[in-house]
Amino acid sequence: MPEADPAAGRDVVQRVGCASCHVFPDISWPRGALGPNLGDFADQGLIGGRVPNRPDLLAAFVRDAPALIPGTTMPAMPISERESRDVAAYLYTLRDR
Ligand code: HEC
Repeated sequence: MPEADPAAGRDVVQRVGCASCHVFPDISWPRGALGPNLGDFADQGLIGGRVPNRPDLLAAFVRDAPALIPGTTMPAMPISERESRDVAAYLYTLRDR
């Protein structure tokens, strides 16, 4: 995702409150536990256990998860398409090292 900006994506994640449901390794508060811990998300093969972890699908998922995976408990989030690409780029920086 060459045109996407991971630092901008992290700002979006903080602004819209993704951390109220997820743990992100570089966000100290909040550290919500309703959704999966995203500390090693970059190396995961599937999104939500169902769709391949690809940049285009991840951007679509973080913006409107129920449209991609009917029945998922991850809600649609109030972010633009551009922001969803930045968020996806940020999520691909998250890995155990
Ligand atoms: C109200 C709580 C809530 C909020 C807010 C939320 N999520 Fe989620 N998220 C979930 C839940 C619950 C799941 C598990 C869904 C499933 O497996 O179908 C999930 C799944 C995910 C996944 C897939 C994880 C995996 O292991 O496959 C990603 C990535 C993700 N969320 C990112 C985000 C991002 C980025 C935001 C902010 C834009 C966000 N979430 C906001 C609850 C939330």
